[in-house]
Amino acid sequence: MSIEKETSAFWKGEFGDEYVQRHDAPRLVPAKRFQFQTMLRNTHGISSIMELGTNQGFNLKVLHEQFPEAELHGVEINENAAAMARKVQGVESITCASLLEVPVDRVYDLSFTAGVLIHIAPEVLPKAYQKLYDFSRKFILLSEYHNTSPQEIEYRGHRNRMFMRDFAGELLDSYADLRLLDYGFFYKRDPRYGLGDINWFLMEKG
Ligand SMILES: C[S@@+](CC[C@H](N)C(=O)[O-])C[C@H]1O[C@@H](n2cnc3c(N)ncnc32)[C@H](O)[C@@H]1O
Repeated sequence: MSIEKETSAFWKGEFGDEYVQRHDAPRLVPAKRFQFQTMLRNTHGISSIMELGTNQGFNLKVLHEQFPEAELHGVEINENAAAMARKVQGVESITCASLLEVPVDRVYDLSFTAGVLIHIAPEVLPKAYQKLYDFSRKFILLSEYHNTSPQEIEYRGHRNRMFMRDFAGELLDSYADLRLLDYGFFYKRDPRYGLGDINWFLMEKG
């Protein structure tokens, strides 16, 4: 089985279903509200958004509050998570597919991933970058675990399921018309956030 098929099967199957069960909204939603208000503070004119790897749609939920008029779309590989994300208020469509294979049929003001590139096998990362780039009309946001050099980390007892690297740097190197607009760090001890340590990067196209 190819590494792409292996990681897709991991998230489509039992592990992905259990991930959905484990995540509790009361703690996540306020943290994500703070996160997105911070990460998108330097954007303007956002009326459509594409999230790659939505899980059950907590990010889209807070984005609907922040941009009530914006069209919200997503792609999610796990069927149970996709079904839940479709029920989130303000969400227009969730395609149940791999972000590596989903066709790009239109562009959005913002395309983004949050905790998703870290789970894509390094061999196929360029395909994920291409989707993020092709789906974006203006902004690309990454909220991931950063490391200056690529590193694989054991993930809940699994090998080859989590990777840290300079995702933003690789994206900026791949597309000459992208520029870094803003970036930052969320520390797990910040009571407004309180999840894992996360690095985020906002890029602008053109
Ligand atoms: C760690 S979760 C992050 C979920 C969400 N972005 C958030 O911030 O809460 C990773 C998500 O990416 C999804 N995923 C993993 N590989 C994917 C792929 N190739 N295509 C689409 N979704 C994928 C998983 O099913 C899971 O819902």
